[in-house]
Amino acid sequence: MSLITDYDSNGYDYRSYWDDRDYEAWAEDHALENTVPWLGSPEWMVDFGGGFGRNAKHYRTRARRYVLVDYSTTNLRNAAQGLAGDVADGRAYLIRADLNRLPFVDHAFDAAMVVRVLHHLSDVEGALAEMGRTVRDRWLLDIPIKHHVLGLARAAVHGDLAAMRGPEPVVTGHSETPFYNFKLSVVRQRLLDAGWNTRLAGSVNNLRRWDRSLPPAMVRTLRPAVQAVETAVRHGGRGWFGPSQFVYANRNTNELALRATDSLAARMCCPACGGWLDWTPDAATCESCWSAYPCSDGFWDFTVRAA
Ligand SMILES: C[S@@+](CC[C@H](N)C(=O)[O-])C[C@H]1O[C@@H](n2cnc3c(N)ncnc32)[C@H](O)[C@@H]1O
Repeated sequence: MSLITDYDSNGYDYRSYWDDRDYEAWAEDHALENTVPWLGSPEWMVDFGGGFGRNAKHYRTRARRYVLVDYSTTNLRNAAQGLAGDVADGRAYLIRADLNRLPFVDHAFDAAMVVRVLHHLSDVEGALAEMGRTVRDRWLLDIPIKHHVLGLARAAVHGDLAAMRGPEPVVTGHSETPFYNFKLSVVRQRLLDAGWNTRLAGSVNNLRRWDRSLPPAMVRTLRPAVQAVETAVRHGGRGWFGPSQFVYANRNTNELALRATDSLAARMCCPACGGWLDWTPDAATCESCWSAYPCSDGFWDFTVRAA
């Protein structure tokens, strides 16, 4: 059973994480502006672990319809507010689900992205297989690596370089909220095993936290130079420099695409048994195992209760 990081405990609101992180937000926005176009103009797109919809601005006008999947009810309620217009227009759908057990049929989406999520996944191999199963041919992944420049420097100081070289993830944080950092080649190999060809798309957050301990006036003065370095390293540091490595994955599949006009219901199945669902405006019920999945507060809850 994989551990799911709880973003709802103690009244936490993930939006507050971004309060003092202008640089991180800028670096990531800039990288996404340049890489999300690689996904083309999908008919149906999914944002895995999409949180409160922070990144929807990068794809909401490119994709005809999009689905945001997350486990956190707080994030989904906030997404329901922030994306209310798209939800009301039938362009956006908010689904609560575990990325290890998704309520979608194979190849339900043309394109997908997963940003700032993999470091939470204790069974990354299983979750990648489960997410990838539901995506037809284009996928943008943000992979947290252990062997970035700062990580290597820290490991050298602590005499821990062997852990950087091995295939196992390095785990930081504490037992309830561990953070997993991976060897990039291992994750790319897992994707290749599942039929995905991968290409390095950008090294991101290369100078993370540079602005945290400097006086504001100095930060303002240095900002243009630092942003120029971040942009240069986004290309030159692909695969090795920064802690977040963006990877573009695509594959050729012989499977027939679902018709673009097919509804969300045609793309979904019971996450517990894979059965077809019977829909009312308030709930979806599995025709095989009778599990019921309610809709309230603007999102559908497709989490599976423990037996
Ligand atoms: C750091 S946030 C990133 C959110 C968004 N992608 C962004 O970049 O703003 C991580 C998100 O992953 C979600 N998450 C973590 N593990 C998950 C799981 N097993 N299933 C679904 N969502 C998960 C959390 O609820 C949280 O919203």
